[in-house]
Amino acid sequence: MTLKLSVIGTGYLGATHAACMASMGFQVIGFDTEQSKIDLLSKGKVPFYEPDLEELLDKQIKSRRLTFTKDINDLTDCDVHFICVGTPQVKGGIAADLTYVNAALESVAKIVKIGALVVGKSTVPVGTAEKLRNRLIEINPKSDLAWNPEFLREGFAVEDTLKPNRLVVGVTNDNAEEILKKVYAINLKEGTPWVRADLPTSELVKVAANSFLATKISLINAMAEVCEAAGGDVTVLAKAIGYDPRIGNRFLQAGIGFGGGCLPKDIRAFMARAEELGAQQAVKFLKEIDEINLRARQRIIELVRKDLANNLQGKKVSILGAAFKPDSDDVRDSPALDIAAQIQAAGAIVTVHDPKAIENAQKRFPALKFSEGINETLQGSNIVLHLTEWKIYREIDPVNAKALVQNAIIIDGRNALDRELWLKAGWKFRALGRTHV
Ligand code: UDX
Repeated sequence: MTLKLSVIGTGYLGATHAACMASMGFQVIGFDTEQSKIDLLSKGKVPFYEPDLEELLDKQIKSRRLTFTKDINDLTDCDVHFICVGTPQVKGGIAADLTYVNAALESVAKIVKIGALVVGKSTVPVGTAEKLRNRLIEINPKSDLAWNPEFLREGFAVEDTLKPNRLVVGVTNDNAEEILKKVYAINLKEGTPWVRADLPTSELVKVAANSFLATKISLINAMAEVCEAAGGDVTVLAKAIGYDPRIGNRFLQAGIGFGGGCLPKDIRAFMARAEELGAQQAVKFLKEIDEINLRARQRIIELVRKDLANNLQGKKVSILGAAFKPDSDDVRDSPALDIAAQIQAAGAIVTVHDPKAIENAQKRFPALKFSEGINETLQGSNIVLHLTEWKIYREIDPVNAKALVQNAIIIDGRNALDRELWLKAGWKFRALGRTHV
């Protein structure tokens, strides 16, 4: 008999997981406390931008394998419950806020049937899974809890969920692993590596992976700083070190650094948790990683100041990109938006363009001016900042763009534009970590 699954929390992670599991043939019911989300998802509409997700979701809704509800009692007959709620940074601190995870566990604990498995997918501080499992068993002794961290990237969420590069399961017994093997039977058949771990290791895998990725980005951004001081070019340096297979060429794009709803808050929550465990020394380097990352934002503002004779007052600054990365409308901790807001606070007249993230950006920074058109954004500009590497920005013709601006100066905050092309068109071209021409 096919398993019946529930997915608790329908954000990026939950909505994607629910649609993908339904597409694998399971009967899936998504639960959320927000009625507006349930209404949209039930109509096959995704409340955020994620390539390929809406088509997949719509198809699963129409096939009736996927439904959504606000009533937790609708989940009673499910065999497996996935907890996919958010764990944001606490207000006024660096630790993770576990309010939603705890609430999800309390709700599900009351309705789980005998033999059902609750599976946490949210990113949590190590030790959380064991606490949640104890609480679940206290309320409902004939159920069990496992941990199954998620590694999906925004912009590739569907692909990463359907074809993960590994599956990690934190379990306390064989039965829980067997249930999860049934859930992921298709992936296992396709040869996806399967890693069985204990609960704390499975929680740590996620934060260790994110710490590594953040470190890789900050390492290259630190090299960018040295390149600037020494007259080198970090893009050439990255290419050269990336040929070493032990290093690899991915995640070595120097620029304004990492943002989003995961890397920044995950490394901070990791530091907070390590301190509680008395292991703060071991992850002290993450503070440096965070600082290098935040410094990149200041360094680009310095470049802007230099080019505008140290006076931003009344200068027209055009910003290309608001999302924390391309192919996403997510602006959580977006370096691009942070820079835009700081430049505006220094007195400049800032216009921000983004193909997908304007609505979200506007909610976060209502005082910033946003524009739907690239040409309109560039019109009369004193300086242009390329801060999110959307493909459409690489397609801008520098010759045409030059006719629109007042001063042809561009700063490539992502090292993604063709420098030679812009120079040939007569632009002053600046970039982090590259010798300035
Ligand atoms: C990340 C992890 O990659 C994913 O495995 C985890 O599940 C969630 O966190 P995501 O937040 O979607 O995923 O974004 P990611 O693609 O990792 O990029 C994070 C940030 O790093 C972005 O702001 C991006 O612009 C920046 N970045 C990435 C760089 O500055 N340079 C790079 O070379 C790569």
